[in-house]
Amino acid sequence: KKVVLAYSGGLDTSVILAWIKETYDCEVVTLTADLGQGEELDGIEEKALSTGAVKAYVEDLQEEFARDFIFPMFRAGAIYEGRYMLGTSIARPLIAKRLVDIAVAEGAQAVAHGATGKGNDQVRFELSVTALAPGLRTIAPWREWDLKSRTDCINFAKSHGIQTPMSHAKPYSCDRNLLHCSFEGGELEEPWNEPGPQSYAMCVPVEQAPDAAEIITIDFEKGDAVAINGEKLTPAGIMLKLNELGGKHGIGRVDMVENRFVGMKSRGVYETPGGAILFAAHRDLEGITMDRELMSLRDSLIPRYAGMIYNGFWYAPEREAIQAFIDKSQEHVTGTVRIKLYKGQVIPLGRRSPFSLYDSALATFEEDEVYNQADAAGFIRLQGLRLRGFAKR
Ligand code: ARG
Ligand code: SIN
Repeated sequence: KKVVLAYSGGLDTSVILAWIKETYDCEVVTLTADLGQGEELDGIEEKALSTGAVKAYVEDLQEEFARDFIFPMFRAGAIYEGRYMLGTSIARPLIAKRLVDIAVAEGAQAVAHGATGKGNDQVRFELSVTALAPGLRTIAPWREWDLKSRTDCINFAKSHGIQTPMSHAKPYSCDRNLLHCSFEGGELEEPWNEPGPQSYAMCVPVEQAPDAAEIITIDFEKGDAVAINGEKLTPAGIMLKLNELGGKHGIGRVDMVENRFVGMKSRGVYETPGGAILFAAHRDLEGITMDRELMSLRDSLIPRYAGMIYNGFWYAPEREAIQAFIDKSQEHVTGTVRIKLYKGQVIPLGRRSPFSLYDSALATFEEDEVYNQADAAGFIRLQGLRLRGFAKR
């Protein structure tokens, strides 16, 4: 019997590793995915093996994460409840995919994760696994065991020879990757409380951002960012560079109370420095390149599409079909946006595209030959037909 566990190397997943081995009397294979969490992954294989794993995979998935998950989502301009850029939500389907791949390669019967029974992540992992390999079982120790608290975990660790952290535990539940860092729990559980200084990982507080603005250009091809300041970069390279720039200027912090799929409201603080720049620049380029009705239809789908990602339906037919529409809508979203980064703000300064639909001859306030202003009178009269009837009644 074999189980593949998503393993971070932290206390929780180490305890989970030992607990699964003991409870299910099986072999445990671990997967540690580098999605850009910025933690040292050296030594993690040894740690997994010494905690009882039979085999430990450590994989750098940053490029795939950016190219096949973050970028398609940003082509859509996805945003959850108007503010959350889905940094954790979009990472889960990739981790689930690799768990499944490894389970198949290793002949395992189950995969396991360290998400709690109260959150979204369990749903995302398990719906993704179900879609990709319906025959695989999932083990979610947090829903099964009787360890109730951090102290219980530490005691379990001690009794099983697992190293426990020396330093004080972080005050928050955090999840960091190439797109964002999230903070939940601690003093944030009271929505009136202001986030404390330890809720900063990727961004400087806006008060500490430089007094000098920074101006950059981003080049897009078919809705994907491909270069910054003229320098071609890979998708992961784009994210790293924009995170550095956005972080320095205090861009992309969000503090909100959101609706979890399982039903409760939850308060989260998010840092999405690069994502916030990308989002604003992409939207700005669409202004010049995208047809009005196409944009309106696409915009109407954003809450649905974002909900699919938030709720764990990345590998669902409806998400894939909307994605095909989104990608088609991006055919001409190619060009360059010039933006200013200044104290938490992303300020577009200019935009240009070889596929621009903007026609200065049409839009001008000066004299022109292409537009007959007298035509507008009939246009308005007919648009107003209904309103006249309505008002008369
Ligand atoms: N509330 C966010 C979401 O549902 C962030 C979740 C963070 N997850 C974590 N394991 N710390 O996407
Ligand atoms: C968890 O409960 O494991 C993290 C929070 C979430 O998934 O929403």
